[in-house]
Amino acid sequence: MHERSSPSPVLTPPWIDRWAAELRTSEAYRTAAAHWEGSIAFRRGAADGEEERRAFLDLHHGECREARSATREDLDSADYVIAAPPEIWERLLGGGLDPIWGLVSGRLKLERGSLARLTPHARAAKELVKAARRVTAEVSSGPGATAAGSATPTPPVAPPPAPPARASGERRTSFRTTSAGGLDRELFPFRLFQKAKRFGIWDPAAINFATDRRDWVGLADDERDVLLRLTALFQGGEEAVTLDLLPLIQVIAEEGRLEEEMYLTSFLWEEAKHVEAFRRFLDDVARETGDLSRYETPAYRRIFHDELPTALGRLRSDPSPVAQAEASVTYNMIVEGVLAETGYHAYHSVLDRHGILPGMQTVVAHLKNDEARHLAYGVHLLSRLVAEHGDTVWQATEGRMERLLDPALEVVEEVFAAYEVMPFGLCLEEFTEFAVDQFRRRLVRVEKARGQTLEEVVHQAD
Ligand SMILES: [Fe+2]
Ligand SMILES: [Fe+2]
Repeated sequence: MHERSSPSPVLTPPWIDRWAAELRTSEAYRTAAAHWEGSIAFRRGAADGEEERRAFLDLHHGECREARSATREDLDSADYVIAAPPEIWERLLGGGLDPIWGLVSGRLKLERGSLARLTPHARAAKELVKAARRVTAEVSSGPGATAAGSATPTPPVAPPPAPPARASGERRTSFRTTSAGGLDRELFPFRLFQKAKRFGIWDPAAINFATDRRDWVGLADDERDVLLRLTALFQGGEEAVTLDLLPLIQVIAEEGRLEEEMYLTSFLWEEAKHVEAFRRFLDDVARETGDLSRYETPAYRRIFHDELPTALGRLRSDPSPVAQAEASVTYNMIVEGVLAETGYHAYHSVLDRHGILPGMQTVVAHLKNDEARHLAYGVHLLSRLVAEHGDTVWQATEGRMERLLDPALEVVEEVFAAYEVMPFGLCLEEFTEFAVDQFRRRLVRVEKARGQTLEEVVHQAD
């Protein structure tokens, strides 16, 4: 017989009342939710013979106007409906799950409303959850309470055993390509290398920017400013990824993955060309020679000044599968997958829709092609690591994504926050939706590798 813990208070009517009271006195919530208006209904699935619990909040510019148990009609009319089984609620309110990551990864199910419209309010959502956590902790530690309401945070991921001593610097005794081993032309990275040679041959120095210069001079001040901002952020980003990639290439080479390293030579070469292309735009179109660091925002700095060089630099002393996965998530999934792709989407929206800057349109088309291969490689690398090393790597991958998705989305928000009226009619929701959608698709691809063999992953079809 096991001792039965007292039921969780989450989403019970008294708990909802206390949550509302907490929101009404929270200055942090009021500030974070100043631009949020709309209603949210929450569902906590039935469990242990208990019925489903529901809550309804009417939120308006930092005020909680109404809070009660939700009716069936509320579920049909609320702007957002968020549902999760009891164990996920416990994890969320115990501090073991970030709310935005919960929504993106599908653990918290968004049954009504658009994730893209919700993510710009990430800070408000976090304060909403923080208030709920305070209530849960208070209720759970009250008289007669047991640990039922305080969920256990996700256990820390144990590092995998250190890989065998590396062959770096050791004498070699043979060559694979002069033996029966040869080259594996069907290996996914080798096929990417073939594509890089076919499609990655373009020269930033050969782009004709003459019309771009004329277009640039004719733009309004705020239009030039937003394009200069985007270019400055890209220029810094491309420099960072060019400088920071080497430790990963080194690890791949030391593991003897010849075909994979062959692909990575084109990867680094392409990043170098991206640096050149943006600098040409600054020099020949914007004719900007001054300091552009004014465009770097706090979240941008966190990712490009800290997270990226730290995650990649760590590989010099720790080439473990977990360190490789964390580096790849940072580099491929976040920097390339969320930030660069969203940025290209912005360039594309502005330039193609408005029919301006034809030279830059050509550059962006090449960049998108190159980056598609870089991302395919990143998904492949993570999938290979997950297929080979299992859940330890998967948990590290997911944990890193959870940690960095939020600041990555903040970078996009910070760009928009700089303008009272966004030039070119750009819309934040469109970009957030794009970023989150791409990210989710890749997450699903990597997660699939948990059920695949290494052989299936490395020889996967395109
Ligand atoms: Fe790039
Ligand atoms: Fe890239």
